[in-house]
Amino acid sequence: MSPHLFLPVVVLVVSPTPGAFQDSAVSPTQGEFEDLDCGRPEPSSRIVGGSDAHPGTWPWQVSLHHGGGHICGGSLIAPSWVLSAAHCFVTNGTLEPADEWSVLLGVHSQDGPLEGAHMRSVATILVPDNYSRVELGADLALLRLASPAKLGPSVKPVCLPRASHLFAHGTACWATGWGDVQESDPLPVPWVLQEVELKLLGETACQCLYSRPGPFNLTLQLLPGMLCAGYPEGRRDTCQGDSGGPLVCEDGGRWFLAGITSFGFGCGRRNRPGVFTAVAHYESWIREHVMGSEPGPAFPSQLQKPPSEPWEPREENCTFAQPECGKATRPGTWPWEAQVMVPGSTPCYGALVSDSWVLAPASCFLDFPIQQPRTSDSSLHDFETWRVLLPSRPEEKRVVRLVAHENASRNFASDLALLQLRTRVNLTAAPSAVCLPHREHYFLPGSRCRLARWGHGEPAPRSSAQLEAQLLNSWWCHCLYGRQGESVPPPGDPPHLLCPAYQEEEEAGACWKDSGWSLLCREEGTWFLAGYRTLSNGCLRPRAFSPMQTHGLWISHVTQGAYLEDQLTWDWGPEGEETEKQTCPPHTEHGACGLRPQSTPAGVLWPWLTEVHVTGDRVCTGILVAPGWVLAATHCILRLGSSTVPYIDVYLGLAGVSSLPQGHQVSRSVVSIRLPRHSGLRPPLALLELNSRVEPSPSALPICLHPEGVPPGASCWVLGWKDPQNRVPVAAAVSILTPRLCHCLYQGALTPGTFCVFYTEEQEDRCEMTSAPPLLCQTEGGPWVLVGMAVRGSRELFAAIGPEATWISQTVGEAHFLHLGGSSYWSPEGSDPCPQDLAGSASSPKVAALPLLLALLIPR
Ligand code: ARG
Repeated sequence: MSPHLFLPVVVLVVSPTPGAFQDSAVSPTQGEFEDLDCGRPEPSSRIVGGSDAHPGTWPWQVSLHHGGGHICGGSLIAPSWVLSAAHCFVTNGTLEPADEWSVLLGVHSQDGPLEGAHMRSVATILVPDNYSRVELGADLALLRLASPAKLGPSVKPVCLPRASHLFAHGTACWATGWGDVQESDPLPVPWVLQEVELKLLGETACQCLYSRPGPFNLTLQLLPGMLCAGYPEGRRDTCQGDSGGPLVCEDGGRWFLAGITSFGFGCGRRNRPGVFTAVAHYESWIREHVMGSEPGPAFPSQLQKPPSEPWEPREENCTFAQPECGKATRPGTWPWEAQVMVPGSTPCYGALVSDSWVLAPASCFLDFPIQQPRTSDSSLHDFETWRVLLPSRPEEKRVVRLVAHENASRNFASDLALLQLRTRVNLTAAPSAVCLPHREHYFLPGSRCRLARWGHGEPAPRSSAQLEAQLLNSWWCHCLYGRQGESVPPPGDPPHLLCPAYQEEEEAGACWKDSGWSLLCREEGTWFLAGYRTLSNGCLRPRAFSPMQTHGLWISHVTQGAYLEDQLTWDWGPEGEETEKQTCPPHTEHGACGLRPQSTPAGVLWPWLTEVHVTGDRVCTGILVAPGWVLAATHCILRLGSSTVPYIDVYLGLAGVSSLPQGHQVSRSVVSIRLPRHSGLRPPLALLELNSRVEPSPSALPICLHPEGVPPGASCWVLGWKDPQNRVPVAAAVSILTPRLCHCLYQGALTPGTFCVFYTEEQEDRCEMTSAPPLLCQTEGGPWVLVGMAVRGSRELFAAIGPEATWISQTVGEAHFLHLGGSSYWSPEGSDPCPQDLAGSASSPKVAALPLLLALLIPR
């Protein structure tokens, strides 16, 4: 039962139409309930407005025990008969033996004194033949007691409705039970019977709510014999452990068993009302099976005239309840931002999660590390002096309680505390509460997120609120930021980390102070507190956030009213469907390099492929080798004979990737050009230093370098653009010739440190050469490595990276050097004479050498 605790109680008045009591048409059939009085608790024994029922209010409520504990509820319908739900007794298609069950009658608190209460064993359990699973209906069971119950003030049967009995939708009825008070949150000791008022929902209204897919695409087809009760906005419902128990509606001074608690999606969730077995539908089945019992259950006639109004499920317009949390008129001005002020300390930023609770890092209030195990004992704090400031409210709120997460001191992913306010906040546009994710909430890759202050937060270099980020999928998250080789959790499993890729450029020289940040992600215009991190890593933006979803249970248990919301978007698509376990290619000490997303509908993205725009419209191919460095061919960047230093800009992330918006683009200007010292010859490779670092992301990521040449077993491609104007990336497959063959083919033309390739694919896949494209290789499942850059005027000759490895690593400390083994390809081995027919054929080596080439290609 999730009693409605925080919203004002809606007192539903079912105004009886004058003349509602018909005396002829539906006059009570004498005989049936004369023998057995039903549905009448002791007069004036009910309390309205509370969640604990008053003893004797629901005298038909029974508790069904199995294995020594309460499992399900049930309703006494006759001295020897209890009606409950089939699913309580059927496991894997088989009915459990009746003698393992016992029925507790007349009980109020299952922990308290049991005077008036008594136990009966079960003689028989009857379940409809067509019962298989709750979603398919017929979820009812008749239990015949081994001996009749002792009727008395606290033990009385309920009335059963006839098949013709119509319960008007909108009718306020009551459900009772000892079930969970929230999802996975058992009723606390002393287990006092709970009651909740639920409105009957029309079939159309209920079907409409359940037809809308939610997380995991769940939809439900309501069947005849089912009825729904609850509220579109949720929050009041039955829950696990209430099953089999009664949903009763009053009619003419008697309580009728309208429904049997059967199932629901979660408990108390928005747009997911509880589903009950409609007892009236099973009148004949019940009658048939209890036949001959004396006295049997009573089926009094309906007295109250049903309203003439909608009997038939008319076209109720399908209106979904909208989330009551997570609305911000302008991103950045967060109406849930709570500033907790504790004397002697800087303000601690947290978030309002309900009308009386603020969530904030525990480290704001507790000293870590805590030497002794310490309970989050509120008495240690002098809350008198604490104040909470909320947006648009001049007056400060007082704190009465602090509940720290039990692992707050041990594990920074649990660095959370809940603070209870002395008085409730009137939730309006501001202040309002942020939405929290349920355990199974999966924030989709590409979700739009923003940062908010969290803990002792210093403002970001620029306004943090302006920073938009998109979530990376978990593979990228792990491969960019996670530990090497870590497996990727499938969607639905709580991700270990949430990783945003920030949209805006890193501000030059910006440094994020040591502060905490929360990650707010938006779904259908609603903001969720998706993650948080108390510590930021020095001068970098916060990257990986601890997910909030794992703490939903603790938060709802403590607050009994925080706004936990279902996932609002669930179209996972190929990016989200990471069901296979993937591992990340080897990392270097500086992190991930050479990772590439699979080609996406949006295009093929080569995250290290850089457009280098040189003064005067020239475009060269560049390759990102570290967050602040691009490698390019000298001959493209610096024109021979020109004495002026060109003005150079670089652009990355041009091709887009499905998890990032089209044209996600990063630009930087080049502040210096570095060339290696070469005797005589002009060095083929140039390093361009960028004015600021590029945040590693799936659309801008450094390549790996491999000083030993081509990694064993690698496939190689020349990567460039198809034409200089329209820069669509193309990759042409090539094979690398043995140094000896290369030497023989090109003899005079070959400068040291140069190697040659042979194109294995069609002509049209070639890239244009004026931009000096690079040559990249990849081993199956491994990262991409840069092997060379095109030599001026040649398609087949490439300047090798290997000989310049020392210079590169000295210039760029963060370059990603991988050591995968393999042989160098840039120095001809031995000095065997070249085959006669190859000599001097360099002008057209391919034609002349084809037969030989195929034999001499480096084996893959
Ligand atoms: N099947 C549950 C039980 O065995 C009852 C669930 C009711 N759920 C709901 N959301 N109304 O106790």
